[in-house]
Amino acid sequence: MTQLADKKILLGITGSISAYKAADWVRALRKEGGTVTVVMTESATKFISPLTMAALSGNRVYHHMFKDDEPEKIPHINLAREHDLNLIAPATAQTIGRLAHGLTDDLLSAIILASSAPTVVCPAMNSKMYLHPATQTNIATLKTYGYHLVDPDNGTMACGEEGPGRLTEWPVARQTILKVLAKQDLAGESILITAGPTREPFDPVRFLSNRSSGKMGYALAEAASQRGARVTLVSGPTTLPAPAGVELIAITSAQQMHREVMARVGEMSVVIKAAAVSDYRPASTYDHKVKKGQPSLQFELIANPDILKELGQDKKNSGCVTPLLVGFAAESQNHLEEGSRKLREKNLDMIVINDIGGANTGFEVDTNRVTMIDRNNGREELPLLSKEETAHRILDRLLQLMEGKR
Ligand code: CTP
Repeated sequence: MTQLADKKILLGITGSISAYKAADWVRALRKEGGTVTVVMTESATKFISPLTMAALSGNRVYHHMFKDDEPEKIPHINLAREHDLNLIAPATAQTIGRLAHGLTDDLLSAIILASSAPTVVCPAMNSKMYLHPATQTNIATLKTYGYHLVDPDNGTMACGEEGPGRLTEWPVARQTILKVLAKQDLAGESILITAGPTREPFDPVRFLSNRSSGKMGYALAEAASQRGARVTLVSGPTTLPAPAGVELIAITSAQQMHREVMARVGEMSVVIKAAAVSDYRPASTYDHKVKKGQPSLQFELIANPDILKELGQDKKNSGCVTPLLVGFAAESQNHLEEGSRKLREKNLDMIVINDIGGANTGFEVDTNRVTMIDRNNGREELPLLSKEETAHRILDRLLQLMEGKR
């Protein structure tokens, strides 16, 4: 993953016991391509050594307002100018208070006040300190100044108390960082995305389903939300957490998905159907668990509605150019021919085709290799990428199509 490539991040570490976790965050930021400069408050240096942070960041660590070796340089002004993003993690009540009141009696708060880059603040402290009205008021003030606050987790603290105050986990902070840094090129768009499998019940215990994990659809929802779209995710059963800022509509069967999609499509500028919808469902379901005993069992399947085809047909009938319709085709043979056929037959604007026979592509894995074909016969083949990167590339292509329509 290289979502932070070329990004310069200033990581401010303050004096909380969770300062040691910042060491892992430096590694995670660098792994994503970011350049990290660490600034520590004096109390942070009591919890973790500047030497550790220097070794992990590969950069000089700053914790004094004045550099003894270069007195002519004013570090807080230079550091404030040089970065794309400031991340304060962990942020103590003291530092939050300083920033809320514009106090600059240490290097970190002076830098933040002098910086015009966005600032993400991840509070971590004892839960009583966190819940104290003074801290809550300071946090509310920071929000009005445009700082991006990431709520701490609930749990047992180092001091033995329970409650909110634990430093958030890296994936949550990462989502906020990516959103803050993302270009807002989908602002104003309403995008409906379907994801995951559907389950078609047979009796109270069994159902007919497929191997879809929902990862591709969730990656698209997260990427579109990062880029400023209002995202509604209609999802079959998955084990994935709902992406932040996305409206999640949980469904089980194809008929439920059909209902939820049709109820919302009128408000959407784009519909992306990444879900693996069951084409058939059992014609009848049993109220009680079917018992064994018969040498064989037969049951009839009836066709589910083809949701995407119906959307394409409605669009043709209405003569409207919106919503833009994007389908997926997971194929095990003749994938380009099959994908092109679905593009035409379902009246789509674009189809994303993947060959599920390839190594590391398709179901359950974190990577994908797709080809996109649009209604003007434009074609783009992507290399093997993470589903997250694939999602951004699909959205880039979608934007080009949208530009063509306006
Ligand atoms: N789709 C849908 N409703 C269905 C079946 C599929 O909306 N009942 C959508 C999928 O979400 C996907 C696209 O249609 O975006 C293609 O789905 P796919 O399963 O690849 O193709 P099918 O149309 O079902 O055809 P086949 O199973 O014969 O390959």
